[in-house]
Order: sequence, then structure tokens, then C-alpha cells
Amino acid sequence: MIEKWTPTSWQSHEGRQMPTYPDAAALAATEKLLSSYPPLVFAGEARNLTADLAKVVEGKAFLLQGGDCAESFAEFHPNNIRDTFRVILQMAVVLTFASKLPTVKLGRMAGQFAKPRSADMEDIGGVSLPSYRGDIINDIAFEPTGRAPDPDRMIRSYNQSAATLNLLRAFAGGGYANLHQVHAWTHDFMGRSPWAKKFKDVADRIGEALDFMAACGINPETVPQLKGTDFYTSHEALLLPYEQALTRQDSLTGQWYDTSAHMLWIGDRTRFEGSAHVEFLRGIGNPIGMKCGPSLDPDMLLRLLDTLNPNHVPGRMTLITRYGHDKIEAHLPALVRAVKKSGHPVLWSCDPMHGNVVKAANGYKTRPFERILAEVRGFFAVHRAEGTYGGGIHIEMTGQNVTECTGGAMDVSEQNLADRYHTHCDPRLNAGQSLELAFLLAEMLNQEVQQRQQAA
Ligand code: PEP
Ligand code: CO
Repeated sequence: MIEKWTPTSWQSHEGRQMPTYPDAAALAATEKLLSSYPPLVFAGEARNLTADLAKVVEGKAFLLQGGDCAESFAEFHPNNIRDTFRVILQMAVVLTFASKLPTVKLGRMAGQFAKPRSADMEDIGGVSLPSYRGDIINDIAFEPTGRAPDPDRMIRSYNQSAATLNLLRAFAGGGYANLHQVHAWTHDFMGRSPWAKKFKDVADRIGEALDFMAACGINPETVPQLKGTDFYTSHEALLLPYEQALTRQDSLTGQWYDTSAHMLWIGDRTRFEGSAHVEFLRGIGNPIGMKCGPSLDPDMLLRLLDTLNPNHVPGRMTLITRYGHDKIEAHLPALVRAVKKSGHPVLWSCDPMHGNVVKAANGYKTRPFERILAEVRGFFAVHRAEGTYGGGIHIEMTGQNVTECTGGAMDVSEQNLADRYHTHCDPRLNAGQSLELAFLLAEMLNQEVQQRQQAA
């Protein structure tokens, strides 16, 4: 028999990767306060995203999900939000042009604060302190007071998320996301960048298509779709006291929604059967993501899908695979086959970041661009061989010119990593690397779409 779900039923399940707050009364007071705050998103928007993702499941759209590994209080600035948003839009234009499919744009933004960690404690020079778990929980500085979990940080994260989302909504609907403008940025960026020669042809063709449309009278004034775009938000639903406080019953349908973001996902470390995170997410109406790494076997995946999407609703489940460039082709086929046989409608998305972390000789955690690309290639190769659709990409990126991942056409070397290494957690692709990835991905996607059309 299936147990009844409530917004608090996760509390009687095993919860990993969550802090123990030293002051239970302070936690309860914060939760109460947060529960009285306005929702950040509306249930109807989450349903729209499910419908958009259902189109991806059918092979009629592509999903682009990206943003910081961890948002931080220190990097909270309108320029950072603007630049990440801008690069996501630029990538989306390139992908849409190549695949001739709409791109669903989903930020790892406006709430991506909590981080799972491989060790509970961090040791430096004989001192042992609790690991940093993201700005919503504790402070990155290695110092005893800062590392203690503080519930007040949830309020600050909520406020930062609200302000971020407000700016994103303004950009998406207020004219900033105008298609001509987005292409002009790409054009300008490419004009200044030596690597861009390789992709000049595609960029020129996009420009010509826009000019042709304009000559036919199709411009942002006559066709409002060119003026703005839909932009959704997502984060890992890791800190359940926060997610619970923002979970509300939709007055239109009676269904519960986690109103902290449009989409929530479960991380690779918390998606075990019987986990508090699985329990929480099974009851909310939002579309859900689940990270799939090497420890997930096909039977377990099917049981999790039965729990999380018992009614087989298309667009509800996005499986985000993150194996590593050298493992994806060995692991993914078994999962794809099992899911296909089960009849579960899922969106397969590729996270080529989390399986490709290496430690540089100088101690920096990095990700070589060639490995990221190799995992994406492997992902498409598996789906092509299995006759399924690889419909999305999930990346950690920023619009800033950081030096965190090595390689790419600008060729960030291990020695360069120290120059602008700003991430609060994992290394991100910078603006140039993100755009380059979009152009390379576009070539692969174009082939994939053509092959599917020929096979149909
Ligand atoms: C992440 O997406 O930042 C993350 C922690 O990923 P995973 O759960 O796949 O390890
Ligand atoms: Co990460």
C-alpha cells in the first residue's frame, strides 16, 4: 500500500546531506516565517514547464538547463544574473537554429544554493570543521562560527532568489531577450574572439535568416514571440526544511507545488530508494529531475520512476545522466533499454560536468573541456544506437570570463586556473566555452535530428 503523502511525510524517511541545526527553536521560527512568505513561482507556470518538457520527450523540442554549481551571496549582482541569462539565450539561439526545434530554457538560478558534499568534515592543518554546504546553510570561510548551520541563511536565500527571479522575469518579458539583440551579442562576441572563425559560417547563416525574416515583415514588432521568451528556474531540492516551507496547495487544482522553483531535481547522492528526498518530491506537482550516475542500476531506476511518476505523465521526469566521458557508453544503454521497455515517458538529458572532475597539479578542481565534449558525444551515440532521443543538456556555466574549466578554443591551461577561479563549488564553463559548446552541440544535434527524420 502506498503511504499517504504530506509536505512533512519526508521527515519519517532517511534524509542524507542535510545539516543538523544546533538551535531547533530558531529553525522552527524560520520555517514558520518562510511558510508565510509569497510563493516564488505559480503552479500554473510549473504546469506550463511540464507541457514544454513533454514536447521534448516527444522529440519536438530540446532542453537547455544551465547556471552556477552554487549561487552565492558574494556573487549576487545584477551583472552576473544578466550575463548568465544572456549566454543561455545565445546558446539557445544556436541550438534552435541547428536543430530547427524550440529550446526550453531552464536556469540553475534563483535558488541553487544547497550542496551535497562527499565528506561531512573538512580538515585543514589539523583543524576539523563541518564542510561547506552552500550559502543557504553555512559560510564558505573555514572558521568555526561560519561553518555552523544557520537557519537565517534560508531567509537571505529566499530574498536573493526572489530578486534574481524578478530580474529574470523582467529580462525575459521586457524586451531584453529580443531575438535580434541576442544574435547581435553573439556576432559581437565572435568578432572579438579568435576561436570564433570556426563557427562564423553558422553565425552568419543565423544572421541571414533573421534578415530574411525581417524583410518579410517578421520582426519583434509584428511577432511578439521574437520580443521575449519563456525562462524557467530550477535547483536541487536538497534542503528539505526550506522546500517544505515553500510548498503550497494550488487553489485551482488542490495539488501541492513546491513554489521555490519551476523544476526541482534530486541529486545523485540522495536518490536512493526510501530516501526523504524521493518521498518529498513524489508528492509535488512540479516537473522533477533526477541525476543518474554509475551506482544506479536499471531495476532501481524503474522502481524510482514508478514512485515518482506512477501515472506516466510526459514531461514530469527528466533523467539527467552524469557518468563521465569514459563511463557513459558502458552504463547508459542498460538504463535506456529498461526505461524504453517499461513505457515510462522520460526526458533524457546529459550532464557532462559531474563525472568529469579532475584535480590539476596545482590543486585546483577542474574539468577538461575535451572530456565534457566527449561525454556529450557518447550520450548522443548511445541514444542513436538505442533509437531514443537525447533531448537535453545540463551544464554548470556562468556568463563571466572565469578560468575554472581547462581547454576550449581560448585554451585555458592548468596554469591559468588561478587567474579567475571564483566558483563556490564546482568549476563552471565560462561564457566563451559555453558558446563554443553550443556550436559543437548544434552540429551533433543537427545530425541527430536529420537521422531521426530519415528514419521516420
Ligand atoms: C550538482 O548538480 O551540482 C550536483 C551535486 O550533481 P550530482 O547530484 O549529479 O552529483
Ligand atoms: Co556541481
